[in-house]
Order: sequence, then structure tokens, then C-alpha cells
Amino acid sequence: MEDEEIAALVAAARAAMANAHAPYSMFPVGAAIHTDSGRVFVGANVENAAYPQGQCAEASAIGAMVTAGERRIRRVVVMGGKAGDGALCTPCGGCRQRLREFAAPGVPVHVCGPEGLRRTFTLGELLPHAFGPDGANP
Ligand code: THU
Repeated sequence: MEDEEIAALVAAARAAMANAHAPYSMFPVGAAIHTDSGRVFVGANVENAAYPQGQCAEASAIGAMVTAGERRIRRVVVMGGKAGDGALCTPCGGCRQRLREFAAPGVPVHVCGPEGLRRTFTLGELLPHAFGPDGANP
């Protein structure tokens, strides 16, 4: 059940990654978010000729989720890098905070390459002692 859920998210992130607009970094990223209600939202990084205006895949997926009226994240998949290179495309610092707005510290963040799962973290591991939406946070 959990494995199937992760596999579906990995496939969704892979499809999103294929649509990334990353002509400057040449580093496409895809993200897939599973919400508490069971829906899946995806996003890709969207870069810009004015480099700082680029948006991460996680931010795109969060935007789609919120726009659809969803607020609670239960699982996240992020995919980046080349097949088999072993590098971990973990969310950037800003996206860790963006995820924390809608996800509890125990939410799993599965970091993937195009071939599949590489490593799983909790959001709390990636962003310890976070300032969360409830204010100061245990
Ligand atoms: N990027 C993401 O979209 N998500 C991550 O988790 C890490 C980095 C993007 C930003 C930029 O478009 C490209 O990857 C290279 O940094």
C-alpha cells in the first residue's frame, strides 16, 4: 500500500520532471505531493532568463495544491539528477520552509533520481527546529 503510493508519486514526479523548464541550469526537477485527502499534485522547476525569478519544482507543486483548495501534505517526492549518479536532489532551504507550511515534521520526503527512490528523510530531519505555521515549534 505504502509502496504503491510511493511508486505512483515517483511516476508522477518523473512525468513532471519531463516538463521542467530548465534551459539555464540544465537540471530538471519534478515534485509530487500526496495530500491527506489522497490527491496528487505535481510541479516542475520553471526557470527564467532573469535567473532569480526561477521557481523550484516543490514551489510549483505547492502552488497547484493550494490553488486546488488543498492544504495538508502527507508525502512528498522530489526527483532530480541523472539516472544512477547517486546525488541527492534534496529540497532547497526555501522549499523546506514552504513545505513546512503545509506538512508536519514527520511527513516523509522521498528523494529520487530518474531511476527511482534514493533516500527518504522526514521533513523534520531536513528542517529541524523549524518556525512553523503554529509559531515556535517543538
Ligand atoms: N531545484 C528544484 O526545483 N528543486 C530542488 O529541490 C533543488 C533545485 C531547481 C532550481 C533550479 O531550477 C535547478 O533546480 C538548479 O538549481
